[in-house]
Amino acid sequence: MQLLYPKSPLHSKQPDEQFAAEVDAFHAAGFEVSIFSVEDFQTGIFRPTPPLPNAAEILYRGWMFSAAEYEALVSAISRAGAHPVTDCQTYLASHHLPNWCSMLSDLTPETRVYPSDCDLEAELRALDWPEYFIKDYVKSLKTSVGSRISKPEHVAAVVSDMRRFRGIIEGGFCVRRVENFLPDTERRYFVLDGVPHAASGDAPPIVHECAKRLRSRFYSVDVVQRTDGELRIVEVGDGQVSDLVGWTPEQFVIVLARHFLHKQ
Ligand SMILES: Nc1ncnc2c1ncn2[C@@H]1O[C@H](COP(=O)(O)OP(=O)(O)O)[C@@H](O)[C@H]1O
Ligand SMILES: [Mg+2]
Repeated sequence: MQLLYPKSPLHSKQPDEQFAAEVDAFHAAGFEVSIFSVEDFQTGIFRPTPPLPNAAEILYRGWMFSAAEYEALVSAISRAGAHPVTDCQTYLASHHLPNWCSMLSDLTPETRVYPSDCDLEAELRALDWPEYFIKDYVKSLKTSVGSRISKPEHVAAVVSDMRRFRGIIEGGFCVRRVENFLPDTERRYFVLDGVPHAASGDAPPIVHECAKRLRSRFYSVDVVQRTDGELRIVEVGDGQVSDLVGWTPEQFVIVLARHFLHKQ
């Protein structure tokens, strides 16, 4: 298996600064790493350096891609004679909330999904919940008014800020019931070929349950503690585009090295 990372927009021989420490850790563990220009890729040019070896299995790590962009990446990797660890359908199985949420409905806040052109305020009125957590298929609104509202008439401001900060509504809207989570209890785990991994110690049973139900090869699982003590799944993400929240690059790389290079 070999890694593929975005290039730095400023220094074209180097990986993007955001991922430099991770790339160093992968090199130190003995992995090959190629880098590619995301700007060129978005204009149809895919020229990774060094070139992808023929028939190699490629794990991308980097910025999130839309469904269309990821599909294009899969095609570009295939045209280069290599093959991706994660195909497009598998990427979206973890990256788009409605796909994983429906498999974990008893472990995660109740969620309704709406098309991006719906009358969301009317839909919230129909739901008549005490509070609503609003996001698109991929991201919440962490700036300005935030994602959490109690009055349906406040949703227009959330949606306009989502469009302003994120550019588009990706996929559609997800409306989630608000649950009371304890501050600073959210932890990220990674599941690789059915095996849960924690940055340190063991992953809790709820992550093992996810690993049984979600069959993608590589994804992240965010677990948070509710005020009643229950652990809940707050988010699942594709492992290629998940930040290393709570993990050092070295801890992350060890998981992949043990799996792909059989290093102890
Ligand atoms: N249903 C919910 N009830 C209460 N808090 C929530 C809920 N969903 C998300 N949150 C809080 O908002 C944060 C961001 O939500 P998340 O779904 O992880 O979006 P993002 O993709 O932007 O990280 C979570 O880390 C959690 O603290
Ligand atoms: Mg999150």
